[in-house]
Amino acid sequence: MTHSLFPDLETDRLLLRGIAPQDADFIFRQFSDPDVTQYLMDEPPVKDRSEAQGIIDFFTAPGAAGNYHRWMVVRKSDGETMGTCGFHHWEKSYFRAEVGYDMQPAFWGQGYMREALRAILRVAFLNMELHRVDALIYVGNPRSILTVEKLGFKREGLLRDYFFLDNRYYDHYIYSLLKPEWENSISPACA
Ligand SMILES: CC(C)(COP(=O)(O)OP(=O)(O)OC[C@H]1O[C@@H](n2cnc3c(N)ncnc32)[C@H](O)[C@@H]1OP(=O)(O)O)[C@@H](O)C(=O)NCCC(=O)NCCS
Repeated sequence: MTHSLFPDLETDRLLLRGIAPQDADFIFRQFSDPDVTQYLMDEPPVKDRSEAQGIIDFFTAPGAAGNYHRWMVVRKSDGETMGTCGFHHWEKSYFRAEVGYDMQPAFWGQGYMREALRAILRVAFLNMELHRVDALIYVGNPRSILTVEKLGFKREGLLRDYFFLDNRYYDHYIYSLLKPEWENSISPACA
């Protein structure tokens, strides 16, 4: 679903479009895939298609666009849906929100997520008028750590036993990118 605050976006290789009801099969596949969910400790893996539909309903509900948003990451060359990304925990009075992202393992290691995040960070700092974007990352998720570090996020600390899933606590790093840092990191041609 397109919203003026959260428009569909185009990059060199990607189309980012709002999550929609027809994405239920992909969302089910993605959030039940152990290679993906092993790094996502805030929610248990999706068990069936109706739970996947529930995720989509959450992101497409009336009023959602004012509070959170999820884009589908689609490869332009062949229309392949590869992953999702977006913002949640938007604290408007503090001008901050949290970024989330996931990619099918077949498409890791090609810089697709970094390209997608570059595009949605523009939305964060320009449309949502954020001052700060947070990223919470499981300490055992080196790919995700590299992805945000190469985008200029700074590690601020360790959140001990931050999420509890399947009878276990998981430490997470907290990263952030501040608007002035983002402004300094983009070339004038892209600003
Ligand atoms: C986190 C996740 C999206 C990272 O995926 P990724 O493909 O490794 O991330 P990037 O888009 O940043 O790609 C970087 C890699 O692509 C390579 N690459 C290839 N072509 C590239 C290009 N044109 N531009 C940039 N990088 C490129 C880079 O060298 C880099 O590989 P390296 O780290 O081995 O050197 C993925 O591991 C994932 O979905 N994990 C499961 C869900 C998850 O953990 N979500 C985040 C929770 S915090």
